[in-house]
Amino acid sequence: MSEAAPVYPVDARFAAQARITRDDYERLYAESVEQPDAFWGRVAQRLDWMRPPTQVKDVSYDLADFRIRWYADGELNASVNCLDRQLETRGDKAALIFEPDDPATPAQRISYRELHERVCRLGNALRNLGICKGDRVTIYLPMIPDAVVAMLACARIGAVHSVVFGGFAPQSIADRVKDCGSKLVITADEGLRGTKRVPLKANVDAALKMPGANSVETVLVVRHTGAAIDMQMPRDRWFDAVVAGQSAQCEPERMNAEDPLFILYTSGSTGKPKGVLHTTGGYLAYASYTHECVFDLREDDVYWCTADVGWVTGHSYGVYGPLANGATSLIFEGVPNYPDVSRFWQVIDKHQVTLFYTAPTAIRALMREGEAPVKSTSRASLRLLGTVGEPINPEAWRWYFDVVGDGRCPVVDTWWQTETGGILITPLPGATDLKPGSATKPFFGVRPALVDTNGQLLEGAAEGNLVLLDSWPGQMRSVYGDHQRFIDTYFRTYPGTYFTGDGCRRDADGYYWITGRVDDVINVSGHRIGTAEVESALVSHPKVAEAAVVGFPHDLKGQGIYAYVTLVAGESPGDELHRDLVAHVRKEIGPIATPDHLQWAPGLPKTRSGKIMRRILRKIAEDAPDQLGDTSTLADPSVVESLVRERRGR
Ligand code: WTA
Repeated sequence: MSEAAPVYPVDARFAAQARITRDDYERLYAESVEQPDAFWGRVAQRLDWMRPPTQVKDVSYDLADFRIRWYADGELNASVNCLDRQLETRGDKAALIFEPDDPATPAQRISYRELHERVCRLGNALRNLGICKGDRVTIYLPMIPDAVVAMLACARIGAVHSVVFGGFAPQSIADRVKDCGSKLVITADEGLRGTKRVPLKANVDAALKMPGANSVETVLVVRHTGAAIDMQMPRDRWFDAVVAGQSAQCEPERMNAEDPLFILYTSGSTGKPKGVLHTTGGYLAYASYTHECVFDLREDDVYWCTADVGWVTGHSYGVYGPLANGATSLIFEGVPNYPDVSRFWQVIDKHQVTLFYTAPTAIRALMREGEAPVKSTSRASLRLLGTVGEPINPEAWRWYFDVVGDGRCPVVDTWWQTETGGILITPLPGATDLKPGSATKPFFGVRPALVDTNGQLLEGAAEGNLVLLDSWPGQMRSVYGDHQRFIDTYFRTYPGTYFTGDGCRRDADGYYWITGRVDDVINVSGHRIGTAEVESALVSHPKVAEAAVVGFPHDLKGQGIYAYVTLVAGESPGDELHRDLVAHVRKEIGPIATPDHLQWAPGLPKTRSGKIMRRILRKIAEDAPDQLGDTSTLADPSVVESLVRERRGR
């Protein structure tokens, strides 16, 4: 149990120079929840405002009077905060270090001055192409500096960016373009991942041919690998040609604190992915403040967050947080096992990385390769390690701490979500004793609570559903185009609170242990996939009558995807159809949604009202048929026996 779990006390040497000590944490946390206006008003001063806010928090979770507004009368521009204000003292400092896929390709160092110029040129180019404040721009790029340039250029002119992860397939791009009505797409000829090439431009071409994806007027194409691609004139324009000759000065748009900064699509329990909308002032204040505190940021740090900009971690802790703090952020196009499984550690040595932030799935995969690939590198530059995206098992935590960090570096296990904009539950490295597997304690202003399924608040050591009792500046403001869905999804389940969708345990020391999703979201290698999305991809295949998808425990990925498939009458199962269906899902959604297991199901367990009993399917997938529980409410209990038999025979 947690109480017996080993504790790693705060390292005294680390604490001696840390930004936030144990006493600071207690004092500031108390202030942050008792006097949020005073606390967050002070935090806002870390940003440069065109008009400083006089209002701080204006929030009500009461459904009759619902609102979430922070710094509502303030005006600022996010790109100015990330770039212009760094120029005076940090103009020559590296804003970005780019490590290409192939270690033989030279790395690039991009100063704040150069990044500012590139952003201004693209901002001007976008304006010339008719992009105005409030227009949506879709970014579908590899992890290259131009991805950061594209995001910040949008922010500069007040366009709302929607970054789509390069691993998504044309249908997923089309859905996202359609939902927000993007006028322009920024992509590249190809992306590189190890020895593989990702046909980004071809995917965009296919997406824009799909029904409904017709809002796009222009496609800007970055020449990255130099591959031959189709250019469709006049729609398609080379990025280089469009920015060439643009001025390196670009007037930043004045944005209200509550004006949208970006949309990021994420999976929920039902329907298509939703466009999580973040606004400018609160988001930026929260991303930069958490980045500084959680990573104990210093001026000479070299900081590397391995997340792709296609995910929220890449947004908040790859781009906006670090750049707003004037930090040096490393971006890496490749993968952890190319050219070999020592690559992460080699990159750390090569660029003298001090702060390293990655996902448990990567740690588990590298752990399997043993210590030698780690120990062949120095890693002496490292002073702090972080994880995010899914629960980290204590064994992987200890390996990260002992082997990667040589027992010297605190590990910050940071819990948060696309919706939260920034880290909510986390250790502060100079203040919090660590317990492997626990995200520990709430960040300033964050009020977590546990409720049972009836919404009853649970006190003390307990396990339940994780809710948040109050707002923080980085909270999402809406689901793009569907504010009602926002309210219904997050604020109706347990009235008066924000429901996270996660289960959680709190131990006697008040430490939080996230146990995973309690809804129909599967967390595969730290990537969220809705079971409904995979099901709808499967049933769009002509031979599939019905499908039910659940998550199951997976050694490397945390959770894997398990699909039960019922074929239309007259079709028979077989290896070829199996391969076909897996390929179909990859084509419809993208490789990240690849089912790990696909089981033929002559029938699915349903209630008499026709609802699929996923609880039962999850237990069968886990191969725990003795834990099926009550099956008496099923329309046809014999279905279960045949599924169990089939599962066992696999
Ligand atoms: C899970 C990623 C345990 C959780 C920033 C959450 C975690 C979902 C942790 C959000 C962690 C994230 N420990 N679980 N440290 N961090 N999660 O939106 O289930 O991609 O709800 O945001 O990941 O995933 P998302």
